[in-house]
Amino acid sequence: MKHSGARKRESTILELSPWQIAGFGLYVHWPFCQSKCPYCDFNSHVAGQQDEEIWEEALRRELRRYHALTEGRVLSSIFFGGGTPSLMSPSLVERVIFEATRLWRPSNDIEITLEANPSSAEAEKFRSLRLAGVNRVSLGVQALRDDDLRRLGRLHDVKTALRAIDAAARQFDRFSFDLIYARQDQSEDQWARELEEAIAIGSNHMSLYQLTVEEGTAFGDRYARGGLRGLPDEARSVALYAITQELTTGANLSAYEVSNHARSGHESRHNLIYWRGGDYVGVGPGAHGRITDAAGRRVATEAKRDPAAWLSAGLKGYAEAERTELSPEETAEELLLMGLRLAEGVSLDRLRKQTGFHVTENAIAYLQALNLIDLRDQTLRTTDEGRMLLNSVLSKLDLLPVSDKPATKTVAKTTGAGR
Ligand SMILES: C[S@@+](CC[C@H](N)C(=O)[O-])C[C@H]1O[C@@H](n2cnc3c(N)ncnc32)[C@H](O)[C@@H]1O
Ligand code: SF4
Repeated sequence: MKHSGARKRESTILELSPWQIAGFGLYVHWPFCQSKCPYCDFNSHVAGQQDEEIWEEALRRELRRYHALTEGRVLSSIFFGGGTPSLMSPSLVERVIFEATRLWRPSNDIEITLEANPSSAEAEKFRSLRLAGVNRVSLGVQALRDDDLRRLGRLHDVKTALRAIDAAARQFDRFSFDLIYARQDQSEDQWARELEEAIAIGSNHMSLYQLTVEEGTAFGDRYARGGLRGLPDEARSVALYAITQELTTGANLSAYEVSNHARSGHESRHNLIYWRGGDYVGVGPGAHGRITDAAGRRVATEAKRDPAAWLSAGLKGYAEAERTELSPEETAEELLLMGLRLAEGVSLDRLRKQTGFHVTENAIAYLQALNLIDLRDQTLRTTDEGRMLLNSVLSKLDLLPVSDKPATKTVAKTTGAGR
């Protein structure tokens, strides 16, 4: 379906900008790890000590460049992700926070999260990180069973993970930890016992991901050779997911997003910016960003992935590899793709106003009849079943321009795990 430029623009102009509706955040990617986990396809590289002054300079330059495009916004969150950002020195973290909050006015309740691996050396860093301005940590615990930690190629054991959780709880009012389930040879009973132990730790937030075997990883290669035995079939995956929902809901930690569980008020504000279609700046190798300008144009940015290439480009003042203006239709697809991951769903009124597209009544009726979505108060939500079958739901959600003749477009697919 073709649209004139003027109509396209008109339909994207909002009364409020996405950053005012859903927040404005900063993502900082630190791409280094002590070792490469066999399941991981994130932009992470094993490397020794870095020259942090040079990294700081490149990060500052990127921050200033993005600030010029987003002046006047209030910064509601900063997220240091990786890789392993707990390998950064607290003083580098502090200087990045200082520069970001000098450029953008921070909200009174700004959330500053850092992903940490639970090695004991890093746990000792928590106090310095708190003094540097970090107020939330997300710990990569991954499993509460030593055998499984070994199979996942992790450097820590359960004892170390529990010590790190304890240290995080002492230093931070808000912390979260990640577990990976649907592991090799993991039965429903075993996962239920492990999850009960995890819940008993008492954190207000947990991210619970089903193990995804990604192409191009060591697990992916092993799987292709028939070597990664004991992974759950479809039926066991569904059962493991159902156990996860049942036990977390019973403990007041129901899923506010496909893989993320929190007590009310303890949700990750940074990740909510992504899922609610807010704006965010991404700096560091491979970081993604979404920025909406005053005319409603939404731009997707992606930084150079290779750390050395990013660093040298960043020092010269421009480390982006790609910048794409999203069409209103692509913006609508993304709002659904991200928003339907959330239990709170997507406002159809906002979808229409921001993008000029709406979901066809036929598609809604079809998915409602299958009990996969629910429409109340102009808000489209996935049901528990629908969230489990998110890719299928999205593939059935046809979009139409608000005032146009029928012509359909199908929403792109996404992966199951939160990434
Ligand atoms: C990119 S990692 C960064 C955190 C930190 N480096 C760590 O590993 O603990 C973010 C989270 O993604 C999850 N994750 C990464 N790869 C995954 C996979 N293949 N399947 C499921 N979860 C995965 C893990 O739970 C991990 O904690
Ligand atoms: S899972 Fe975390 S620690 Fe392991 S390689 Fe990936 S980013 Fe690094």
